[in-house]
Amino acid sequence: MNYDFDRIIDRRNTNALNTDGFRGYIFKDEKIDLPFRDEYFIRMWVADMEFATPDFIRDAIKRRVDRQILGYSMVFDPAYYEAFSSWTQKMYGWKFEKGHLVTSPGIIPALYDLVEFLTKPDEKVLILTPSYAYFKHAARRSKRALVCSDLLNEDENYRMDWEDLRRKAADEKTTLCIFCNPHNPTGRVWTEEELKTFGDIMVDNNMWVVSDEIHCDLLRSGITHTPLAKLFPDYDRLVTCMAPSKTFNTAGLMFSNVIIPNEELRALWNSRNDGLCNPLSITGAQAAYEQGYEWLRQLKLYLDSNFSFMDEYLKANLPKAKYRVSQSTYLAWIDVSAYFTDIDRVSLPLFFAERAGVLLEADEMFVQNAGGHIRLNLACPRSILEEGLKRICNVLNRL
Ligand SMILES: Cc1ncc(COP(=O)(O)O)c(C=O)c1O
Repeated sequence: MNYDFDRIIDRRNTNALNTDGFRGYIFKDEKIDLPFRDEYFIRMWVADMEFATPDFIRDAIKRRVDRQILGYSMVFDPAYYEAFSSWTQKMYGWKFEKGHLVTSPGIIPALYDLVEFLTKPDEKVLILTPSYAYFKHAARRSKRALVCSDLLNEDENYRMDWEDLRRKAADEKTTLCIFCNPHNPTGRVWTEEELKTFGDIMVDNNMWVVSDEIHCDLLRSGITHTPLAKLFPDYDRLVTCMAPSKTFNTAGLMFSNVIIPNEELRALWNSRNDGLCNPLSITGAQAAYEQGYEWLRQLKLYLDSNFSFMDEYLKANLPKAKYRVSQSTYLAWIDVSAYFTDIDRVSLPLFFAERAGVLLEADEMFVQNAGGHIRLNLACPRSILEEGLKRICNVLNRL
């Protein structure tokens, strides 16, 4: 079967955050007045896709609905573990023990819990910046101090600053690192060598690591993902988070996997989380991991070609923009600072919303070390991508 990623799907009146929640999320102002009707915006912001959640997931959910009762549920059937662990085995050559798997209504809630479980009030949480903002929110929510290690940016090729990381990890009050593998927003897929060096620093300092691998299936074709836990099978202060939600566009089903090898931590997790989940979500996730290989292959090809399209379009129309084609995610990370004389005083999300009718995320939304960068969500039909890029280039070229 050939899946159609060019089809435009109407999301209005579905309570979608993407269409109805952008004012509150991006601008922190539900009532912000913008010069365009909502329908006019090209939405390239929140990390969900404009593509249909695959038919085999929707069909499995429909069949589950037809069983008529949607009572309290949790993952009892070993078929879910079989499906998910076969997926990790086939995709990344990594298997984990069945007993280590717990589920969560999302990786954000898992991060919130884990920070609280793993750190004492006077301890600090380390993250790599720029960063997905919820890593910071997770530390703040439990009132833990945040320590940032800026990634080094050499010509838009990001890498970890080993010296800085070593120094920050050596602080005995810094006990937990929330790590993003692959990395949002830069799209970096860390090499095995980088992962080993990073992991060694964590092990040497006896740190807890939460490795958020939510984007691990969405790689450019030909690139492979290495779970951090695959390289450190005996280090049990390491928690791995994965989910079908980004991969299969099921974020609204609120279901993710958390793999906790440490027995004590798992016991604490289980004493604070009852494991109940939405029965439709369990069914959807199992169908995704059992039947999702071919759909994902085709999705990746479409995303590859969206990135190539963007690359050619920007080379032709926005020559001062700096970027690399992301190795992972459907998110492009682009430095547009060369187009502004007063970039420090410009809010890029507001600028593009007001002047171009494009909704995107940018610098101040990624904690720090993100100045002048916009993040574009490319998981949309080509025609939408083209219109978004056209608007962005037009407005920048007029400056
Ligand atoms: C790195 C990262 N972690 C977590 C999330 C959200 O996870 P969830 O929807 O499972 O709470 C996102 C969403 O964009 C993300 O990029």
